[in-house]
Amino acid sequence: MYNDNPTLEGINKEIIECKQGEVFQQDKKEGTSSDARKFYIESYGCQMNFSDSEIVASVLADVGFQSTTNMEESDIILINTCSIREKAEDTVRKRLRVFDKVKERKPGTLVGVLGCMAERLKKKLLEEEKLVDLVVGPDAYRDLPKLVTEVDEGGKGINVYLSREETYADINPMRLGSNGVTAFISIMRGCDNMCSFCVVPFTRGRERSRDAFSIVAEATDLYLKGYREVTLLGQNVDSYKWENPETGEKVSFANLLELVALVHPDLRVRFSTSHPKDMTDEVLHTMAKYENICKYIHLPVQSGNSRVLELMNRTYDRDWYIDRLNAINRIIPDCAISSDIITGFCTETETEHQDTLSMIELANYSMSYMFFYSERPGTLAARKYEDDIPLEVKKRRLQEVIRLQTQISFRHNQKDIGKTFKVLIEGDSKKSDQEFKGRNSQNKMVVFPKKEGLKPGEYTIVKITDATSATLKGEIINI
Ligand code: SAH
Ligand code: SF4
Ligand code: F3S
Repeated sequence: MYNDNPTLEGINKEIIECKQGEVFQQDKKEGTSSDARKFYIESYGCQMNFSDSEIVASVLADVGFQSTTNMEESDIILINTCSIREKAEDTVRKRLRVFDKVKERKPGTLVGVLGCMAERLKKKLLEEEKLVDLVVGPDAYRDLPKLVTEVDEGGKGINVYLSREETYADINPMRLGSNGVTAFISIMRGCDNMCSFCVVPFTRGRERSRDAFSIVAEATDLYLKGYREVTLLGQNVDSYKWENPETGEKVSFANLLELVALVHPDLRVRFSTSHPKDMTDEVLHTMAKYENICKYIHLPVQSGNSRVLELMNRTYDRDWYIDRLNAINRIIPDCAISSDIITGFCTETETEHQDTLSMIELANYSMSYMFFYSERPGTLAARKYEDDIPLEVKKRRLQEVIRLQTQISFRHNQKDIGKTFKVLIEGDSKKSDQEFKGRNSQNKMVVFPKKEGLKPGEYTIVKITDATSATLKGEIINI
């Protein structure tokens, strides 16, 4: 049952007070002196990595480094990397070749590899990529200034220590490439789930939840700076749990969602990713209760077949997943649901693949991220199962999944024609400066002609007049 926690308001009040104090009082100084060393940072992989890059930038800015978006003029080139699939690592290695060239043109430039690939390959990366100077894992970013000094003194800087406690709770991220409207907030780190295909538990370490006060303080700070949407990030947000060391009060993910929703009714709250095994009805009731908690759940199914799900060690089966879909549709009827799907996992048969296709139909996903299985060294699946589905079969199944999902997305969006939505304006559309783009609560991108007086960060009501499989088109209506 939904638990209306009466003590939460108390927490919110304290957070507002804490905001006046030390944690989020100061904005990062964008270094302006011409002799400041400049760093350039590129990010790959999931939203968590992009969010981590903002922590890295903050750590470096604190010791006087200056951020630049121009690689050529930088003194330190950092690449925040992803190991999730082989292709992700190939992309990073290609970028490292480009950085080598910059280094040749500008000797003395430092190149640092951060994130999951740094953690997976450790010092092997320094051996394989001769021109890399720094290798820093996801829990070692506070150490970056010290590691840069070590490189300056002729050494190689490496720290890939994985922590059980680090959450960077006290660090006010420097918002990189921000639209000033939407921002990410990391609420936890690591993952304890051990899905057999997945490298994340090895690259990100044990799951730990961040202090709820610091999360609400960060959301409040963002709201006061004009941001109107925060996305709470974790590999498995539903298993968020934090205990106030002073009062012993426990904060679950549902409680946290409520705390952030209470920051201000005009601050939208999103979250990602939900794990089907942990997504509770309590979370759904909290979503239904607050208009500003967006009606959108990313609920990766991975496969629609129970035997494959068991091999994947997802710890739920098809029936459990369908039960969670039914709960969403019952409690939040206007909620959009999206998914991640892997085709061609070890031993997957054609019939089992058909179960994934039928799940896409049944779930009526608004969209999905779709991949073919890529074996990752060291994972449970790599050690236990043979990667026996030929590449062309994996790819053909992926094409079938993509084709079906595109049809379903198109149908999903067509149903929105004639409806009106509250849209948060994010900026100009990709195609025209005469049009705005923004999202509705269901996370659909909406494009519409501008209207005098409206600007990014404001809400407007849009009536949908047309739709593709990826975008809704509409016009502002007066209400
Ligand atoms: N924590 C999230 C997923 C993070 S990784 C969750 O549990 O849902 C993002 C997605 O990458 C996964 O959902 C999965 O679909 C895909 N993925 C992970 N490992 C993969 C692999 N070895 N091959 C192909 N896709 C993979
Ligand atoms: Fe990987 Fe599974 Fe953890 Fe997601 S829940 S990060 S897929 S181990
Ligand atoms: Fe990639 Fe690491 Fe995220 S492997 S998907 S960057 S947690």
